[in-house]
Amino acid sequence: MASVRVYPSADELARAVADFVVLRAADAIAGSGRFTMALSGGSTPRALYSLLATPEYADRISWTHAHLFWSDERCVPPDDPSSNYRMARETLIDRVPIPAEQVHRIRGEDDPSAAAEAYDLVLRTVLGSPGPDHSPVTGFDLVLLGLGEDGHTASLFPGKSGVREKTRWVVAEDVEAVGMWRITLTPVVINAAHSVAFMVSGAGKSARLKEVLEEPANPDRLPAQAIKSRSGGPVWMVDQAATGA
Ligand code: 6PG
Repeated sequence: MASVRVYPSADELARAVADFVVLRAADAIAGSGRFTMALSGGSTPRALYSLLATPEYADRISWTHAHLFWSDERCVPPDDPSSNYRMARETLIDRVPIPAEQVHRIRGEDDPSAAAEAYDLVLRTVLGSPGPDHSPVTGFDLVLLGLGEDGHTASLFPGKSGVREKTRWVVAEDVEAVGMWRITLTPVVINAAHSVAFMVSGAGKSARLKEVLEEPANPDRLPAQAIKSRSGGPVWMVDQAATGA
């Protein structure tokens, strides 16, 4: 059964996810000396990233021990208004003392397939070699994900092959639904994470969230259903509006 935590407002959701990140980071750094996190894109996490950059949270994460990645990227330059990297840079990265070499962006400006292959190699360099099931033996400490109104997550879209990928950790796909190429982590690497947290806000997501949580597994139609984690299953952190209440 999925773990679903409901918060009264978008602000309280952002604060709860920020606290979750702080705890996960402290646990990871205590255990391995580092914290590896894949950031989600879109608009929902803006409030989270901005909060993590405030003085209230400034010294609650040891940023010098953190490595940031992305769950997906639009195939655009890093200064493009739709770049997930740009959003995170403006709201968080430029405002915390994380060493530049520990920020591992996806090169959206490059040829999509080449950029996906290059990022796959970056992940194997940082996370380590795969096990017999092709997934990393040691996955991300935390992967943050959002939910699209069509049930996509990261850039794993309905009907696209990325959700069924069994060996590659990163793929590029021409996503007709959004009229652009996207680069995305696959369930092979996402599901090897110690923790996966979905952050979902707003009434516009309520119908799809209910389907993802309650309908029988059909990842081709609802890619978010393909997501698990090594610690038992994604944690769904949602606001009241996203529950349809
Ligand atoms: C992206 C995201 C994507 C996002 C959902 C929700 O690149 O757009 O990674 O998976 O999380 O589309 O987006 P919103 O938060 O904007 O609703």
